[in-house]
Amino acid sequence: MKAVKITEGIFCLPVNLESYQLFEGMWPMPNGISLNSYIVKGEKTALIDLIEDVEGKPADFLAELQSISTQIADIDYLVLNHMEPDHTSWLPAFHAQNPGLAIYTTAKSANLLKSFYDIEQNVHVVKDGDSLDLGGGKVLRFFETPNIHWPETMMTFEESSGTLFSCDAFGSYGTLNGIYFDDQLSTEQHDFFHNEALRYYANIVSSFSTFVTRGIKHLAGLDIKAIAPSHGIIWRENPGAIIKSYERLASYMVGPAEPEVTVIWSSMYGNTERLVNSIVQGVRSEGIPVHVHRVPDEHVGAILASAWKSTGLVLGMPTYEYEMFPPMAWTLDMFRRKKILNKKVLRFGSKGWSGGAQKELTAITEKLKWEFLEPIEWFGAPTEKELQLALESGKALARQVKEACAG
Ligand SMILES: Cc1cc2nc3c(=O)[nH]c(=O)nc-3n(C[C@H](O)[C@H](O)[C@H](O)COP(=O)(O)O)c2cc1C
Ligand SMILES: [Fe+2]
Ligand SMILES: [Fe+2]
Repeated sequence: MKAVKITEGIFCLPVNLESYQLFEGMWPMPNGISLNSYIVKGEKTALIDLIEDVEGKPADFLAELQSISTQIADIDYLVLNHMEPDHTSWLPAFHAQNPGLAIYTTAKSANLLKSFYDIEQNVHVVKDGDSLDLGGGKVLRFFETPNIHWPETMMTFEESSGTLFSCDAFGSYGTLNGIYFDDQLSTEQHDFFHNEALRYYANIVSSFSTFVTRGIKHLAGLDIKAIAPSHGIIWRENPGAIIKSYERLASYMVGPAEPEVTVIWSSMYGNTERLVNSIVQGVRSEGIPVHVHRVPDEHVGAILASAWKSTGLVLGMPTYEYEMFPPMAWTLDMFRRKKILNKKVLRFGSKGWSGGAQKELTAITEKLKWEFLEPIEWFGAPTEKELQLALESGKALARQVKEACAG
C-alpha cells in the first residue's frame, strides 16, 4: 500500500489488522481494523502515532513511508497521542533505528514510555495548549483529552490545515482498502463505517463517555476541517457529523438512547425461548424496532453495540443452579463494566422448582439505574397466560421507550 495524501504535506499511513484477530485480545473484528499513523511534513517531519508490532505490519508501514520518499531516519519528531500498544508496540524496534528521535507526549504518557519500553531520553513533555512548530507553515498543537481512551491520551491539531489527529476518538472498526475518506463512501459504505464506529465505541470507549463529552467541549473552539483518527475512515467532508454522532453516543450513558429495543435471550430446553416471539411482536406492534440476540451464540461485543443504542432491553434467561443461566450473567457483567446505564428493562424466564435468576439479576444490576417492568417468570413450560403477558409486556415496554425518548 501507498501512503494516502490528506492535504499538502499531510499523509495517512494505515496498516490493516485482519478479521481473524481479536482486538484487545477479546473483541471479534469481523471486518478487521486499521491502525492509522500520520506524517506531517513542514521543514521538519513529524510522525503521529505508531503501529502494533504484529507480523508483517512494520513492513507495510515502511513501504508506505517509502512511497512518500521518507525513511525512518528522516523523522524528526514522534508525537504519541496514546500509549496503548496497538499504537506503540513497534516503538522499541522503530526507536532503535532512529535513536535521536524527539518524542512529544503528555507527562502521564512519559511515565508509561519508561515502564512499557524503558525510553526516557529526548522525551518532551507537553501540556494542554502547547505547540510544536515544524516550519513551512505547519504547527502542531496538543490538547489533553484524558480517558479517551487511557488517562494519558491527548489529541494533536495541525493548525494550517485544520486537521485533528484524534487517536481512538472518532475511530471505527473496519479495514481501509482503497477508500480512506468519508467523501469516497457510498451510502451503504457510510452506514457500514457508522456501524463500525458504534461497535468500536460500545466495545472500547463507552465506559469513558463522560470524558468524551468533556473532551468534545474542550475542542469546541477549534476550526476542525478534517478528523484523522487512529482507526478507520478519515472524516473530512463532514467532520461535524462524526462529532455529533459521538456526542449522541456519549449521551446514551446518562439519558435515553434511540427509541429501539434490544432483546437478549438464552434458553437450555426451549421453555424460556417460547416467549421471545410474543415479546418481539408486542414491541413491534408499537412501531419500535427490535434487535434480537441469543447468548452465548452471539459474542457480547456485538450485543453491546445494540444495547448501547437501545433505550429498552429485554432479558430472557432461565434459572440455573439457583442463579441466572451463566452466559447471561457474563453478558450482564460486561454491561456493568461498559456502563450500560439508564435503561427500561423487561425480564422473563422459566424456572424448575425454586427460581433464583430474578434474585441474582436484581442484585447485580442494582447500580445500573435500570427501570424494570414487572418480570414474567413461571414454572416449567409457559401457558397461554404467559404468552399473552409477553405480548402485553412487550407493548408496555415499547410505550415506555417512546415516552422516554419523546421527553
Ligand atoms: C443444570 C440445570 C440447573 C438448574 N437449576 C435450577 C435451580 O437452581 N432452580 C430452579 O428453579 N430451576 C433450575 N433448573 C430448572 C430450569 O430453570 C428449568 O428447567 C427451566 O424450564 C429451563 O428453561 P429453558 O427451557 O428455557 O432452558 C435447572 C435446570 C438445569 C438444566
Ligand atoms: Fe486505545
Ligand atoms: Fe487504538
